[in-house]
Parts: sequence; C-alpha cells; structure tokens
Amino acid sequence: MTSVDQNPTPPAHVARIRTFHPRRGRMSDRQRDALARLWSAYGLEIADLDGPFDPTALFGRRAPLVLEIGSGMGDATAAMAAADPDRHYLAVEVHTPGIANLLELVERHGLTNVRVARGDALDLVRAMPAGSLDAVHVFFPDPWPKARHHKRRIIQPAHVALLRSRLTPGGTLHCATDWAEYAESMRETLTADPELVDVHGDYAPRPAHRPVTKFERRALTAGRPIFDLVHRRR
Ligand SMILES: C[S@@+](CC[C@H](N)C(=O)[O-])C[C@H]1O[C@@H](n2cnc3c(N)ncnc32)[C@H](O)[C@@H]1O
Repeated sequence: MTSVDQNPTPPAHVARIRTFHPRRGRMSDRQRDALARLWSAYGLEIADLDGPFDPTALFGRRAPLVLEIGSGMGDATAAMAAADPDRHYLAVEVHTPGIANLLELVERHGLTNVRVARGDALDLVRAMPAGSLDAVHVFFPDPWPKARHHKRRIIQPAHVALLRSRLTPGGTLHCATDWAEYAESMRETLTADPELVDVHGDYAPRPAHRPVTKFERRALTAGRPIFDLVHRRR
C-alpha cells in the first residue's frame, strides 16, 4: 500500500466526522479589510483543490514546509514564521476571523514565508505528496472531552498515520495540549506508531520557540499544566 492510499477521502455518501466545531465569529473591520486585500495573495481554499497539492507553486519557491493544523488567531504561526525565515509555514484553519487575523499579522510583520489555507486540514494533507512536510504543528487542538466525541479528535491513529506519511524522514510532529487525558491518549497513539520516534522519551520540555497563545494563556490562568509532545518520523 502506498502512503497516498492511507486514510483515503471517504466516499461522498459517507458522513464525514469533523474534528472542528462549526462556529460563527464576528470579524473586526481590520480583519475584514485584511481578508479582502490579502486573501488572493496568501490564501488557499482547500475545497477548490482539484488534484495533488503543490507547495512550491503556492509559495513560488522551494523550502522546507511546516504545516500548522488549527492555527486559531495565527499568533503562533506568525511568531514562529518570523523567527524561522528559511522554512515555509502553511497555517490551516476553518474559522475565517482567525484566518483574517493571521493575514493581518503577515502584512504587519512583512512575512513572506506564510500562506493560509481555509478548510479541513485533513483534506489538504490527503492531497499532499508523501514526504513533503518538514514539520506538523498541532497546538491546543479541540479536546472533545466526552468519550462519545473522541472520534472527532485530530490526534487518533488513522490521522497520525496520514500526517506521518506526509512527513519527510526526520521530520517532526509537535503537539501541545492542556487537556491531561487527551495528552495521555496522544502519547499512547503517537508511541504506538512504529514509524515515529518519541524525541524526548516523555513529554517534551516546553520549547521556547512555541509562543503562548490565547488557549494556552487561558489554561495557565485556570492552573492547568501544558503538555508538549514531539515525535520524529524514522
Ligand atoms: C482550540 S483551537 C486552538 C487554536 C490555536 N492553535 C491556539 O493555540 O490558539 C483549535 C482550532 O483548530 C481548528 N481546527 C480543528 N480541526 C481542524 C481541521 N481539521 N482543519 C482546520 N482547522 C481545524 C478549529 O477551528 C480551532 O480554531
């Protein structure tokens, strides 16, 4: 079986289990303006993809690619991309105000190594060539705490196999969560994947290069510990 066959797109008649909450959000005037002016230069509509995704065409040049799944308001993406200009950062989000916010940050900081995709990150990953990602970041994914919702979690065996197949050998999958039970489940899932190596053999020390986002700040204020997990593809 080739890696492209893993986690195939379900047929249209099968209801998709989504990893995100459909939610509305109001955009500020500043975000609305950023979206209108910058989307055509920096945006990718995942639903419009009609073949394999070509990162070099999207960025206009070749560089190691970091994929961030669920970039929220884009604070971590913008800060990490600014500090790491030799890699490309592709942020994926379904929440349009967050996408607009990131576009505004991209312009404000003059970032040339960021692009923003709207839609389901798993659909985009399925369209990516095997071995095309240098890193995948999944920071504070929706925890879906109820047992009957665990099937919606982004970190589960089939999704991990898909993400790992798109990593280049030596590429990393970095997850962070403030949800202790999800952290344990992530650890179990990630260590069970024979093609992944746990870089720290335990939860990773908090990396200084991962900026504190709104979700992390909220967790820290509530006294919840943060768990980082960093796994490398063999
Ligand atoms: C709890 S928020 C965390 C946002 C951000 N990473 C942070 O730390 O502030 C999780 C985000 O992931 C997004 N998300 C969940 N599943 C997704 C998917 N399959 N594709 C794209 N975005 C997704 C949600 O829309 C939501 O904004």
